[in-house]
Amino acid sequence: MRLNSFLRLLMIAVTMGAAACSNTGKQSPKGTIHALIPLPAEVKENADSFLIDKQTTIVAATAEDKQSAALFNAYLKELTGYELTVADNGDKNAIVLKTGNDTTAKEGYRLSVKNDLVTINGNSGAGTFYGIQTLIQLLPVEKGNALLVPGVDIADQPRFSYRGLHLDVGRHFFPVDFIKKYIDLLAMHKMNTFHWHLTDDQGWRIEIKKYPRLQEVASKRKETMAGHYNDNKYDGKPYGGYYTQEEVKDVVKYAAERFVTVLPEIEMPGHALAALTAFPSFGCTGGPYETGTRWGVYDDVFCAGNDSVFFFLQDVIDEILPLFPSNYIHIGGDESPKVRWEKCPKCQKRIKDEHLKDEHALQSYFIQRMEKYINSKGRRIIGWDEILEGGLAPDATVMSWRGTEGGIAAAQQGHDVVMTPGSHVYFDYYQSKGKNEPVAIGGFLPVSRVYSFEPVPDASLLDPSKAKHIIGAQANLWTEYIKTPEHVEYMVYPRAVALAEVVWTKPELKNYDNFLERLKVHLKRLDIKKVNYAKHIFMVTGVVENDEKGNMQVKLSSELDGSKIVYTLDSSAPSVNSTAYTTPVAITKSGTFRGVVLQDGKPFGDEFEQTFSFNKATGKTVTLKKAPHEKYNPGSPFSLVNGIQGVEKFNDNQWSAFQGDFEATVDMGDSTDISKFGLSILKYNDQWIYQPKEIVFYVSNDGKIWKEVAKTSSFPSNGINKVRLAVNGVKARYVKVFAKHFGNIPNGAQGAGNPSWLFVDEIVID
Ligand code: ACM
Ligand code: ZN
Repeated sequence: MRLNSFLRLLMIAVTMGAAACSNTGKQSPKGTIHALIPLPAEVKENADSFLIDKQTTIVAATAEDKQSAALFNAYLKELTGYELTVADNGDKNAIVLKTGNDTTAKEGYRLSVKNDLVTINGNSGAGTFYGIQTLIQLLPVEKGNALLVPGVDIADQPRFSYRGLHLDVGRHFFPVDFIKKYIDLLAMHKMNTFHWHLTDDQGWRIEIKKYPRLQEVASKRKETMAGHYNDNKYDGKPYGGYYTQEEVKDVVKYAAERFVTVLPEIEMPGHALAALTAFPSFGCTGGPYETGTRWGVYDDVFCAGNDSVFFFLQDVIDEILPLFPSNYIHIGGDESPKVRWEKCPKCQKRIKDEHLKDEHALQSYFIQRMEKYINSKGRRIIGWDEILEGGLAPDATVMSWRGTEGGIAAAQQGHDVVMTPGSHVYFDYYQSKGKNEPVAIGGFLPVSRVYSFEPVPDASLLDPSKAKHIIGAQANLWTEYIKTPEHVEYMVYPRAVALAEVVWTKPELKNYDNFLERLKVHLKRLDIKKVNYAKHIFMVTGVVENDEKGNMQVKLSSELDGSKIVYTLDSSAPSVNSTAYTTPVAITKSGTFRGVVLQDGKPFGDEFEQTFSFNKATGKTVTLKKAPHEKYNPGSPFSLVNGIQGVEKFNDNQWSAFQGDFEATVDMGDSTDISKFGLSILKYNDQWIYQPKEIVFYVSNDGKIWKEVAKTSSFPSNGINKVRLAVNGVKARYVKVFAKHFGNIPNGAQGAGNPSWLFVDEIVID
């Protein structure tokens, strides 16, 4: 993930919120009381129960089922210290695994718990494995308790066939033991694909025997960025690492035992700087190059006019294929600038010889040529949504990351799609607005937002007959800011638990409040696995909203059982002596609100802190000519006059962003004396966020005839520019604010050619 993916949506802290419903439509889903995650398709309780003791046997006939039995034993041993005997037959005090008597849903299973017998009938080995995961979730989570399994009859199957989690090991390298743990956790949540992002500008991380320079040169970099990209600092420490082919085989086998496919990604034609450093002749300029030390997108990519590049990549694929049985090979395709190709005689000759329209068509040529090769070996390609540029390769599957638009376009053309939009499943985004969060790329993506994700676009966007092409979804973890396994776990869990339910459970069974109840129990299972999950759901959450009379109020909540929330209005630190929160708190004047959860009488976790700055526009009625882009839409124009200035990190759901002009009208209610007009804009050109060409204020007394009263085109600062324009003798009821969009990003800048973003917040009228 790169800078433009920084620009993913903030939040609408609201979830699906469907009413709790069971299969019978009456109460909470039946799996709730057993804290099953992801929630199964059908759960019926019965009056029986089954006690696992040391005499219980597991019956498993096939090698696959014996393997699954061994994994069950491994879990049991962690919980109890003992294992069960695995036998070929038995029907008393037994857990019987049977695979393959139903062929409808490949990964489905039935689980029945009766007094003397548990049976798990998987439609395939994977189904049986998933049945075992459900059985594990029926066990008590506290160590030392009797292993009494409640009587149930469960019929279950996944909603989607592709249920993925990605890990970038190019920016930071993670040891094999941790990769295995990552896969184990994924399988525990009934996910089935591990997308291993193995190569990038900052490091090539898989051994290719034919090209030792990939190991010697491309796996290493001189140093790494320290702090955030915006700080432009480096740590001065050499960094490196790669997986040997033996290690890769070991990982792939480990994954297969858990019915997880390892999807390898070899990036092309962009994100290739590490490989170019080892082989400068594969770049358009011939180098020299240096393995990336800064994050972002580099202009130097594989030369598309040089046949040696293709022979090299084919050799790489030849070594990749025997290691990975995956049907798909991921060839990247994202964020590949065209500036070198535009100037390269070889690339230009290729365009001419192949009668290609332009450099976008050349990208398409590149991908299609590699696709042909990979297809000839009996495999298929999958790539990021840029592979749509210049025409999609005939058999390609698309991973839609820049939103869902690319996925929709591909599905309309009859291609399969994995949805992985930054708006909902980029786990490198912040999950909290708390001041103590470790540095992340940006954005704001709490568990609730992940849970609200619906991978299949609405019928108004994608013809329902094409919905079958949405084969699933995946979350991505880009690791620019993530150096350790503990930090990976912190970013991924519990958000991946929410994702697991998104990709497995039927949408009509989903309910966020109910999910949180189950999650609280489920986190104890993650404790057993020693997962360093984030605890934000237990911290205070605050939202600022209007009550029915239009007055501003702060609403607080927490998932911590038996917790007390306290707050202050005078910017002092909330403590056990502060006012207890019971109902939403009215905000009537400027000041700083602070709230926190108390646990054992002490503040727990992040505070909710919000400064309000009132002016004459605060709380007035605003109308927008055009709604903000869905990626940065606070949900209501009220955010422009709520007394809250959006923050520099723009992760607070205050900023409204546009890919065109901004125009807002404020009704002051009465004719009002005005001496100052203000609006804030954000300027981070490297992150595609541009200042407007100008901002103009108009006033009117009838809302029809407008008079220009103030104007500026000066936005000198990087970051927030608070425009404040003084005027004399203005009196009016209506104020119109207009900001002219910058247009497309100029050549030579990050994201050249794409529409720039216009970010605005907080209209000030005084
Ligand atoms: C991506 O985040 N560049 C796929
Ligand atoms: Zn070239």
